[in-house]
Amino acid sequence: MDFKKIGVLTSGGDAPGMNAVIRAVVRAASKSGVKTVGIMEGYQGLMDGNIVDFSTGDVSNVIAKGGTMLYTARANEFKEQSGMEKALKTIRDNEIDGIVAIGGDGTFRGATDLSRHGVPTIGLTGTIDNDITATDYCVGFDTAMNAVLDCVDRLRDTCESHARCIVVEVMGRDSGYIALQTGIATGAIGIVIKEVPFDEEAMIQRILRSKGHGRRSFVVMVAEGVRDADGRPYGEGLTRRIEARTGIESRFNRLAHVIRGGAPTLRDRLAASMMGEAAVKLLLDGKSDLVVCERDSSIVTYEINFALTLDKMYKNKLKPGDLDAFSHSDIRQMEMLAEMRRQEIRDMYNAALTLM
Ligand code: F6P
Repeated sequence: MDFKKIGVLTSGGDAPGMNAVIRAVVRAASKSGVKTVGIMEGYQGLMDGNIVDFSTGDVSNVIAKGGTMLYTARANEFKEQSGMEKALKTIRDNEIDGIVAIGGDGTFRGATDLSRHGVPTIGLTGTIDNDITATDYCVGFDTAMNAVLDCVDRLRDTCESHARCIVVEVMGRDSGYIALQTGIATGAIGIVIKEVPFDEEAMIQRILRSKGHGRRSFVVMVAEGVRDADGRPYGEGLTRRIEARTGIESRFNRLAHVIRGGAPTLRDRLAASMMGEAAVKLLLDGKSDLVVCERDSSIVTYEINFALTLDKMYKNKLKPGDLDAFSHSDIRQMEMLAEMRRQEIRDMYNAALTLM
């Protein structure tokens, strides 16, 4: 196929590093003599025909900026046939030959739908949650975690002054990655994530022992997806119970959208640049319906439907028939990848407990 124009969009929750991906796409395409257009506000802009021309000058210096210069939205109509028809019209009217879609699982569902309608589309992970099982790494994760570190280090200072415990809830949707890794990196005395059972009593005993040894400040990290029996955020009740059981004044602190902003770290700029360049190469090589992933520090690809089904398997959300389209070897590979991810989290959690 004679490729003349690539469209790039960002969709779902924004993530630091999305601009660096956009820059990489524009620059890599331009080196191959291919134009890039920006599709504003994700699939919503694709349906509305909200398209802007891009030149390499438009992306100078955006590598260091958080947010997404293309803006983003969650577009429900795109899941329906009427939405797809509007999108296909925009693609025809603007002579877009292929699309790079940056985001999380919702973005990839849209990308695979476009591919099935004959529009070459490549997905690229941009989500702070790091919850795409097919990839070791999602663009935005490192910056979000560094934002958490900065906040928790500050909270630690004031806790030390007042001899308090701070319970910090962090974003991540159903994924405990941010809470687990930042919990280790901030010396938390407890980490609560959905993936591993939490022993609250053991944590209370650790706090009491440390208090007995003269420790003044305590940090507990909780992933936002963890709920108590009444469906309320687990960290709020936990804060009250810690105070009641230990006598240590305790405060609850929710780090939500604040960790999604800010200049991307080196890790995110690098991942974004390598993945963005790879996505353009794939499109120009005639590939479609793939998600660009990082495994063992190399760029690899998986079919989008494979990646989405693997996620369902990992989250134990498979429905009857979900695996019908896959070969035995695909299913074995999914089982292996899901188990590797579970093991990685268990190992990291056990190491964290050893260090508490
Ligand atoms: O998926 C990214 C994320 O920031 C999650 O961590 C969080 O649960 C969700 O998006 C918040 O969504 P919204 O920005 O729509 O409130």
